[in-house]
Amino acid sequence: MRRKIIAGNWKMNLDHREGAALASTIVDGLKDKEDLPEVVLIPSFTTLPAVAGELEGSEILTGAQDMWYEKAGAFTGEVSAEMLSSLGCRYVLVGHSERRHVIGEGAGLLADKLRAVLDGGLSPIYCVGELLDQREAGKAESVVEEQLRSVLSGVSRREMSGVVLAYEPVWAIGTGKTATPEDASSMHGHIRDVLSRIFDAGTADETIILYGGSVKPENATDLMSDPDIDGALVGGAALKADSFLGIILYRAT
Ligand code: 13P
Repeated sequence: MRRKIIAGNWKMNLDHREGAALASTIVDGLKDKEDLPEVVLIPSFTTLPAVAGELEGSEILTGAQDMWYEKAGAFTGEVSAEMLSSLGCRYVLVGHSERRHVIGEGAGLLADKLRAVLDGGLSPIYCVGELLDQREAGKAESVVEEQLRSVLSGVSRREMSGVVLAYEPVWAIGTGKTATPEDASSMHGHIRDVLSRIFDAGTADETIILYGGSVKPENATDLMSDPDIDGALVGGAALKADSFLGIILYRAT
């Protein structure tokens, strides 16, 4: 049985004071609530320590938005797996569309990063998703398949139990346009099919696949009631306690 995960990717928003305040409101908002999904907050590096402090004693986990693949050394501006785990961090985003398309990270670098996240004892949330013109050209499935194959081919079946995937169609990120539950479901099914070909049917069935792209309280129930959608990677709506709590508590909405 796959667990549900609701993760908030704060991107380059919220300084350490704002982040600590939001984390504390979320902790309060979830007190005494039952049957919760796993909740993950993914702040910027400078905000991460303050958020981790606020979350101590709660069930909420933290993740980082990026990581370098070497252990230590002359890599100005970068952080290592060790630095993140020393803060109690559990997850690291790899291959987010903004890192692929704004910063220009390619498959080789993403494969190195994903390997280092696993070797560092952390769990990657590996993001895949097509651009609008790729979808319109009927290439969405082949683009996503290539993103999976190029980076996951170096991962063993055993290691896959620590890998979370996120399908984030690039045209749905920050645009207010959400993939229909049918489109998202069909791509999640395709991703499981690719996983069964790279690994095996058991791995495909056990891998957690999140959906991301304009998820909000109003569409969370529809998206997450699909059996192939195991949770959400939330951007804009994760920056406000009301909307993020509304998504976390989607079963009650
Ligand atoms: P939005 O929820 O703002 O569309 O962002 C999605 C995203 O990129 C999460 O990683």
